[in-house]
Amino acid sequence: MYATRATTSTLTAQRSAAQVLKALNGTIPQSCRSLSTSQTSNSTKHFFEHANAPAIRNTEAAWSHPVYTAKQMNDVQVAHRETRNFSDRFALLMVKLLRTTLDLASGYKHDKAVALGQKDPAKATQKYAMTEKKYLIRNVFLESVAGVPGMVAGMLRHLHSMRRMRRDNGWIETLLEESYNERMHLLIFLKMYEPGWFMKILVLGAQGVFFNAMFVSYLISPRTAHRFVGYLEEEAVLTYTREIADIDAGKLPEWAKMEAPEIAVDYYKMPEGQRTMRDLLLWIRADEAKHREVNHTLGNLDQKNDPNPFVSAYKDPSEPHPGKGIAHLKTLGWEREEVIGKRA
Ligand SMILES: [Fe+2]
Ligand SMILES: [Fe+2]
Repeated sequence: MYATRATTSTLTAQRSAAQVLKALNGTIPQSCRSLSTSQTSNSTKHFFEHANAPAIRNTEAAWSHPVYTAKQMNDVQVAHRETRNFSDRFALLMVKLLRTTLDLASGYKHDKAVALGQKDPAKATQKYAMTEKKYLIRNVFLESVAGVPGMVAGMLRHLHSMRRMRRDNGWIETLLEESYNERMHLLIFLKMYEPGWFMKILVLGAQGVFFNAMFVSYLISPRTAHRFVGYLEEEAVLTYTREIADIDAGKLPEWAKMEAPEIAVDYYKMPEGQRTMRDLLLWIRADEAKHREVNHTLGNLDQKNDPNPFVSAYKDPSEPHPGKGIAHLKTLGWEREEVIGKRA
């Protein structure tokens, strides 16, 4: 009786995961055909349409990406900043809620897979294995919302500066640059996976809800909003670390032999010989670790008076300080006293 029930529930789970994937209805672009045998895409033009501008040779990115070394990217660690107060706990709870929703939408069940894998590895792989396509769905969805908070925070600080007729102390550009960087992640993944109508509707709904939630939250408590993004970025680092580990473990054979798309090579100025999909995931993970550092740090600061530590020049250059790159990446963010100094 139990065995029958277990088999039935396994089949139901597999069927519902297949239904979700079918409903998401994405296609793998022609340039990444090695990934899948799904239908030929005829929508590439829609995603990357060239502007009709005969006088323009090329259009450079507004923000050039900072240089990361291979060592710096390999040194990125999964980490978690412990909660210290009610605002932190609320931010963490919201992230967990969002993560559960995303796990459900993308069929991602890492913890269950690990638990079952310890007892029956073959069954765990059959039941929960993440494929390249499942990861791409997850990444596209994740990146389509990840670009929202920086834009909302930058916009609100911009409006605040004008409304109150006082300077912003350098926060706005970093926040907008973060959202630009997240949108670049999305464009990179869209070169590998083109969402169908169902996913587009999901993204539309998610953006509508998330933009307004961030807007209201940032007006009420910008510190909590930055902490929330810090925790969200912890999850992003974790996800990309697992994707890299799955390539290394031979679980993603197509990605193991895939080259990074041209848009990524140009954006990151990826060195020759280091342009594989794995290399690309190292760059993206490092970006997420940077966002984690930036937002946990901003969440520690006086929102109204403190200058942005990531674009400031320091009186003592012999000490490591925050900057644009990841040379002195602080996993859990910088404490206020480390970057602003002790209050007089
Ligand atoms: Fe991202
Ligand atoms: Fe991020």
